Amino acid sequence: MNSISLLTPTGHSLAVTASGSGPALMLLHGFPLNHRMWLSQLAELSQHFHVIAPDFRGFGQSLLGDTDYSLPDLADDVEFVRTRLASDAPFVLCGLSMGGYVAFEYWRRYGQHLAGWILTNTKPQADDDAARSARVKMAEVAVEKDAWTAVHPMIAKLLVDADVEANPIAHDVHGMLRNCTADAVAASQRAMARRADFTEHLSSMRLPTLVLTGEHDAIAPPQATRDWSAQIPSAVFDIVPGTAHLPPLENPQFFNNAVLDFLRDTLGLL
Ligand code: MLT
Repeated sequence: MNSISLLTPTGHSLAVTASGSGPALMLLHGFPLNHRMWLSQLAELSQHFHVIAPDFRGFGQSLLGDTDYSLPDLADDVEFVRTRLASDAPFVLCGLSMGGYVAFEYWRRYGQHLAGWILTNTKPQADDDAARSARVKMAEVAVEKDAWTAVHPMIAKLLVDADVEANPIAHDVHGMLRNCTADAVAASQRAMARRADFTEHLSSMRLPTLVLTGEHDAIAPPQATRDWSAQIPSAVFDIVPGTAHLPPLENPQFFNNAVLDFLRDTLGLL
C-alpha cells in the first residue's frame, strides 16, 4: 500500500492511498471519515484492481486549503487524481454517502470516463430546509466549540454496534472522528448543504450501476434507496446485512463480494 501526496492545479495538497494494479477502482469516503474506512477494500480488492483511496480536502492527510469549496470542486479533485494515477485504465468509481454526492457531481462533469460506478449508503436528493439548518448548526458548533463536539453524536448512526470499548470497528471509526478539524467539518457541511439535486437525472444515468445500502442504515434507508435506484436504467440494488451506514467496515466480506460480482459479471473486468 502506497501513500502519496498530489498537488492539484488549484494548489490543494491531496493525500492518496493506493494498492494493487489492473483496472482502476477509486473509493470516495463518507463524512467525517477518511481513506482508512476503506482498509479492507484496499487489502482485498487490490488483488485484482488498482484501488485508489483519496482523502477529501481537510480529512485524513489532505490539507483543507480554502474553506469555501463546493462538491463540484471535489469532483475536479477526483478527476485530477484519475488523470495522475489511472488515466490509461478502465475507471470505476465507488462513493459512500458524501463520497456518493461527489460521485454524482463527477458523473455530471466527467461521466465519459466511467466504465461503471458503485453508489453506497448515499442519495441523489439535495437537503431539505431542516437538513440544511442542521448542517449550518453543526458547522457553527465545530467552529465555536470544537470538531469532536460537533461530530461525535453521529457515531451511533454510523454503526450497528457503536460500542467503542467492545467493538474494534467502532474504535477505528471513533479515531477517524477524533482526527477531524473544526474547519474541515464546517467546510464540508457547508458544501453538502449547497449540493445539487440529482433526482431528475437518474433516468439519464446510462451506465452500469451498483447501488448498496445497509440493512439498518437510517441515513440512507433500504426502501428509499431501492426506490431511487430503480430510476437508474441498469442499476442493480442490494442490501448489506447486519450493517448501518458503513458496510465496507461493518461487513467487508459481503460488501467486497458484491463489488467483485459487479466488476466481474456486469463490467467484465475480472
Ligand atoms: C456521510 O456519511 O458522508 C454523511 O452521512 C453524509 C451526510 O451528512 O449527508
